[in-house]
Amino acid sequence: MELPMIYYEEDLWSKTLLIYDSALKEINTKLEILNNEFKLNHQYNPIEHITSRLKTPESISKKLKHKGLQVTIENVLKCINDVAGIRIICSFTSDIYNIAALISRQSDVEVLKVKDYICNPKPNGYMSYHMIITIPIFLSNRVVNTKVEIQIRTIAMDFWASLEHKMYYKFDGNSPEHIRRELKECADIVSFLDKKMLSINEEIQTYKEDQEIYEEDIVEEVYEETIYSYNYIEINEKP
Ligand code: GTP
Ligand code: MG
Repeated sequence: MELPMIYYEEDLWSKTLLIYDSALKEINTKLEILNNEFKLNHQYNPIEHITSRLKTPESISKKLKHKGLQVTIENVLKCINDVAGIRIICSFTSDIYNIAALISRQSDVEVLKVKDYICNPKPNGYMSYHMIITIPIFLSNRVVNTKVEIQIRTIAMDFWASLEHKMYYKFDGNSPEHIRRELKECADIVSFLDKKMLSINEEIQTYKEDQEIYEEDIVEEVYEETIYSYNYIEINEKP
């Protein structure tokens, strides 16, 4: 018996979403490994936290229709870049570029598109670093290069974007002029805050380096002391 079309399509959608979900898992694992290695080497955690989401079939078809496209799997694969989305929240702006470079350098990752809304913020003040990448997903009978949208931002940028998003929905995209102006002012404060935090952190790092050199000196002195006293004992213990 031939299955009705609707079952066939449902199965196809589930399979497609499974591949995107697998891509999210792959990227999450990559990020966890990078973060753990960083912690071990530098006693420092560049990633504050990570969130990921899979677009719902309803939201995917809404987006396709909005683009004037037919709701087909082919169009999803070709035209929707953010079925799988990951948001990486970092401590400092410098971490954003480090993480982006580490992801891009991985041999199985291909970077399709980059939008640097930190160097070039959106007119409303939105800041974030966006990448569209593909990674291979190994299925039983084939390999599927799967797109993932990665957004990388600082805690402060995320704070602004989350609240702006809520307000945007309240006004359905038509917020009054003075509200837009004030939100832009807040974005400028966020940018100032990130720059200030980064420069404070850079200064702290130099203190830490000085401290490490100082601690190394102390260790050396203690070591020398030990040798001296050891020699002393040795000399005294000689018959
Ligand atoms: P889509 O918006 O996904 O269709 O594609 P695009 O090419 O316009 O993507 P872009 O990289 O500019 O933005 C993608 C995502 O970034 C959005 O879905 C939001 O999650 C986020 N984003 C972009 N602009 C804004 C903004 O002005 N405010 C907030 N809060 N988020 C934004
Ligand atoms: Mg999107």
